[in-house]
Amino acid sequence: MERRYTVPVEQTGWQLPGRESTVAFTWEYDQGRDRMLSLYQKGKDKQWDTQHRIDWSHDPDPTDQDVVPDEVVPIFGSPTWDKLSRADKDRVRHHYMAWTNSQFLHGEQGALICSAKIVATVPDLDSKFYAATQTMDEARHVETYAKFLDEKLQLAYPINSSLQALLDTTISDPRWDFTYLGMQVMIEGVALAAFSMIRDFTGDPLAKSINAYVMQDEARHIAFGRLALKDAYAELTEAERAEREEFVVEASYLLRDRFLAREVWDHLGFDADELCAYVDHHQMMTEFRKALFSRVVPTVKDIGLWGPKVQEAFVDMGVMQFQDLDVQELSDNDERIAEEMEALLADRAGGRQVPTAGSRAAELAETIKLGE
Ligand SMILES: [Fe+2]
Ligand SMILES: [Fe+2]
Repeated sequence: MERRYTVPVEQTGWQLPGRESTVAFTWEYDQGRDRMLSLYQKGKDKQWDTQHRIDWSHDPDPTDQDVVPDEVVPIFGSPTWDKLSRADKDRVRHHYMAWTNSQFLHGEQGALICSAKIVATVPDLDSKFYAATQTMDEARHVETYAKFLDEKLQLAYPINSSLQALLDTTISDPRWDFTYLGMQVMIEGVALAAFSMIRDFTGDPLAKSINAYVMQDEARHIAFGRLALKDAYAELTEAERAEREEFVVEASYLLRDRFLAREVWDHLGFDADELCAYVDHHQMMTEFRKALFSRVVPTVKDIGLWGPKVQEAFVDMGVMQFQDLDVQELSDNDERIAEEMEALLADRAGGRQVPTAGSRAAELAETIKLGE
């Protein structure tokens, strides 16, 4: 993977010195909320293995319009874009795709670290159990995007500075709810909307299935976030609530700016300021960046961080129309699409066996036999 980066890893290394964080032990092993325990059960039942579930034999062509249409490249229609040859436009597409998936990858590593941290810091055992399943989910997501970048796109970008700044506050804050708010509601909320756009618009079966299957897991992560934070936030003082609302506002602007993709324009030797200004104002891109908040806005409202500062920021960003979307319905839909896609891809592969709970049990029996 190291050889794939546009900037050598020695130049982008990142160590975060930890501030104090409180590790919470609990001795109450028998007190679990039913909904939390059923999420934990679901987390155990729905584990999948990227090596088996995804058909990695397919090689997408990252320069192909069917994989990423021209119109989706942020600088599409700019004077810089219009002057490029066909081959150069295809090169920009490849780089943009590598940049996008690299940010997914780094975000997933952030999620892995955050969920492991939540296991240690969240006070209730049922939440610790659930977060342990999420930690495994996130490890599989890191594995999946890393494989996709290394083997298929063969190109990778370092972490974007806005995403890094947000990860910094999210991970460094000693309070478990900040970790969860920053990671699950904000960073992954935006990622989820971006995954869904790729899932729904790419013609490439590999890119489609990766994003659909990752989203199937994210449906549980969002449900946990809503459940845990809604409970915790019901008891906040005004000052505590204000602090969290300020964080939501700051995170929203950082996340919006991360999608300017400045690193790509810089790396390709274009005028990055000019192109960022274009991306910032061009109507299609502003609509795209608004759509990224379709999962964040209703969740923030649902967990009760809906004070005037948050509402003002969302009005300013033009994303208030998402406030009444039904997050649960969107998640249920994501799960359904993943299952349907799996069935469809298995059909197309001419009955290629897709591992099910049953076939996994057979696999396990085989492994035990081998060990004897
Ligand atoms: Fe994830
Ligand atoms: Fe997640």
